[in-house]
Amino acid sequence: MKKILVLHYSQSGQLRQVLDHIIAPLEFDADVQCDYLKITPVPEYPFPWKFYDFFSIFPESVFLEDQKVEHLPTSEEYDLIILGYTVWFLSPSLPVSGFMQSSQAKELFAGKPVITVIACRDMWLTAQEKMKTLITDLGARLIDNVVFTDQGKSLYSFVTTPRWMLTGKKDPFWFFPPAGVADEEIEKASRFGIAISSALAEDREKGNEALLKDLGAASVNGKLIATEHIAHRSFRIWGRLIQKAGPQYSRGRKVVITIYICFLLTLVITVVPLNILLQKIVRPFRKKATARAVHYYEQPSGH
Ligand SMILES: Cc1cc2nc3c(=O)[nH]c(=O)nc-3n(C[C@H](O)[C@H](O)[C@H](O)COP(=O)(O)O)c2cc1C
Repeated sequence: MKKILVLHYSQSGQLRQVLDHIIAPLEFDADVQCDYLKITPVPEYPFPWKFYDFFSIFPESVFLEDQKVEHLPTSEEYDLIILGYTVWFLSPSLPVSGFMQSSQAKELFAGKPVITVIACRDMWLTAQEKMKTLITDLGARLIDNVVFTDQGKSLYSFVTTPRWMLTGKKDPFWFFPPAGVADEEIEKASRFGIAISSALAEDREKGNEALLKDLGAASVNGKLIATEHIAHRSFRIWGRLIQKAGPQYSRGRKVVITIYICFLLTLVITVVPLNILLQKIVRPFRKKATARAVHYYEQPSGH
């Protein structure tokens, strides 16, 4: 009997739904036991978010700091860990990064193979780099990464995802598609469970080869790599400024967050279109470098 631990933190239930579809074929596998455990932050974050609460946790998310989590009710030894996480400000969500730095994570993860499952808007590269470090620090091995991103063009989800986070509304409006990962994508996720089931039957989780190759696990949009790098650099600078202004939810923090949002909006109206144009010009000369970066970020599972 193989034992899988499925860890996750999902606010709206979307990531949980993705994991349910991945795990569904394993539920029929008599040789596999799946234990689902939800990571619970202390205190819990309400959903949908209030505007300032949403931005108040920005610095701690970026620097992976100060997150308490509840102790999980398990001390079992697992053969495989599936870790589902969402991305907050280009970082693993605070509850998950908090858990990964807990003493319990050390006990559960040491020496274990890990499959990460991400469901986010569409910017997950930096978050996964941070997650790789957290996994390595626990003495575990990342063997696969599966990514689900929100439907529609990046420009549309830049509107539909925050609207969903701040109002709870996912429905389509005007010319915008619905928010979140497309239902068809979620339904097709069972292919990963089928592959995990056959890999476990052959003890392949014990090796270092990815179990989920050639299944479209993680497709990287080369056009977003530079934008994400620039955004993360600015997040680190503004994160420190916002932290200096006061503790989470304080008046001081609200003031700097307001300045930051004005800065961000000005950036979106001015620098972002300029950057899109600049990248269009530069792209033909950077084809090889972009292809190398895409290949790097798509590992270990590939697209
Ligand atoms: C505070 C916050 C920050 C977010 N930042 C990002 C981000 O940087 N990149 C991204 O692709 N998605 C981002 N998202 C979207 C989430 O990754 C995810 O898609 C959404 O929260 C739904 O997940 P759920 O299963 O927890 O409901 C953010 C969401 C929240 C709440």
